[in-house]
Formats: sequence, C-alpha cells, structure tokens
Amino acid sequence: MGHDKLRKFAENETFSCLVQVSSRDLLADGYPNLRDHRLKGRWREDMFPGSDPAAPLVLELGCGKGEYTVDMAGRFPDSVFVGVDIKGARLWKGAKYVETAGIRNAAFLRARIEFITALFAPGEVSQIWLTFSDPQFRSENSRLTSPLFLDRYRRILKKGGIVHLKTDSRFLHEYTKAVCRVNGLEVIACTEDLYSEESRKSLEGKVGDELYEVRTFYERMFLEQGYRINYLSFVIDHEGEYAYPRKPEDFDPDSWRKAEGPRVLFGRDSAETRRQKLYGSTQ
Ligand SMILES: C[S@@+](CC[C@H](N)C(=O)[O-])C[C@H]1O[C@@H](n2cnc3c(N)ncnc32)[C@H](O)[C@@H]1O
Repeated sequence: MGHDKLRKFAENETFSCLVQVSSRDLLADGYPNLRDHRLKGRWREDMFPGSDPAAPLVLELGCGKGEYTVDMAGRFPDSVFVGVDIKGARLWKGAKYVETAGIRNAAFLRARIEFITALFAPGEVSQIWLTFSDPQFRSENSRLTSPLFLDRYRRILKKGGIVHLKTDSRFLHEYTKAVCRVNGLEVIACTEDLYSEESRKSLEGKVGDELYEVRTFYERMFLEQGYRINYLSFVIDHEGEYAYPRKPEDFDPDSWRKAEGPRVLFGRDSAETRRQKLYGSTQ
C-alpha cells in the first residue's frame, strides 16, 4: 500500500467526525443477521450533540470525497449530513475538511452500504443522495437503486423520504426510472441532460441550487469527457415487495448499455468530439 494511503488511514483514526465500522463486527451473529451498531437511532444525540432532535438527517451514499455532504452542511445548517463510503482514502478528504473547518453538522461513515439497516433506525433518515454510483452493468443487485437496495433504504427512511440519483450513466438512470415505473413510485424530477437550458426550465421549482452548484470529483471528470449528466429524484414509499423491471419493454439492459457507449474517464477526445460521438451533437 502507498505511503500516502497509509498516512491518510492513520489520520482517519484521529478524526472525531469519522466513524469506521468493521463488517466483521456487524456480522458477528452470522450472515445474514446483522448486529445493530451503537449509533443506530442515536446519530443526532451522539454525533451531532446540540442539534435539534427533529433535524432532518441526509445521507450521501457512495460519497467518495464527500462533496455533497460538505457543501450541503453549509447550505442547510438546520439539517445533519452523513457521507457513507467504503474507501478510507477518499473519505479522508471530506473528513479532513470537516475537522479543519470545524463543521458541526456533517460526519462520515466508513461502511458498506449493504449494512445500512444496522447503522440507521427506521424513520431516522429524511433523504438519500446517490452521487455518481457505479452502474454495475452485470450485477443488478449491486446497483444502488435495485429493489434490493430500495428495500434497505425504505427501512431507514421516513414516510415520504426522497432518493436523489445524479449520474453520468444513462444505463443506471434508465434502469432506475424503470424500477420507479414498475413499482408506481412518485417521480419528483427527471432529466437526461441536467445543464441544458430546456432541463433547467423544466426543473424550475422542483430542485435546489445544490444540484447545479456542487460538482463531485467524478462529475467533474465525466463533464470534462463530454458526458451529459442525468438526474432523477423519487419518493420511496411502497407497500409490499418491490418488483424488478424484468420485461424487455420495462428495461432492456443490452440496448441501454449500447446506447451509453464506452465509459471513458481519461480519454483523449475533447469534450466536443466525445459529445458528437455519443449524442450526435456538440450541445
Ligand atoms: C464512482 S465513485 C463516486 C464517488 C463520489 N460520489 C463522486 O461523485 O466523486 C463511487 C463510490 O461509491 C463507493 N461504493 C460503491 N459501492 C459501495 C458499497 N457497497 N458500500 C460503500 N461504498 C460503495 C466507492 O467506494 C466509490 O467511492
């Protein structure tokens, strides 16, 4: 392991805003049973002392360096924010910032999202942001918007809780739209080209400025490569089991995979050339 990573891991141990959870401890009773973490149901009291017990708690899942967590903590001082990721070296960036700037309403959690129900209590969370999640072309149940994950989110979100998905991946965006459709979930806002004039007009009044003004590490890379940014927000409420979009007319993975084209983070094309190749237009 690189020297820099080791240094970050060591510094992570000293951050009071960073909670690191061992999967082994959560699974101590044997898979698939999960042992509840001490913070479950106690985030506001224990991690954000002095906060309003009714303060909305917002999660950023797969937060990487935590750009949304840090930024929204500044915009919404009456809410509390927790960024979750499994990669300690990425979390270090957000946690270092929060510690240094003395931000009191943001924290980070190093854990697998699969174990989220052992970490948050029913109704403890108000909203979930998924920022540039991996599309997981092959493994549907690894997609962070699959019915398997939605069921986990439903068990920690308040009634009427909202999920936001901001992604470069048209495949993941269309898949998530299909999951909403087959389960009758209420879509609040949806666009396939966030920064276009047309989209801005159609989303007016439905989204906050943070959607445009916060650009994560991955978003910046995808924008430099000429990718369009997709966004979808929806209400998670649903009685009974979530259905999978199994019929080709609901979601055809092969055609959306093809439509998405190769995912290139560090290609040689200019943004204009890639846009022309991907969308047939430089806009
Ligand atoms: C493509 S990166 C995006 C990071 C950041 N949100 C951004 O936009 O720059 C996806 C992140 O999700 C995290 N991740 C993926 N699956 C996860 C899981 N099951 N549990 C925890 N973190 C996960 C990865 O570690 C990675 O940091």
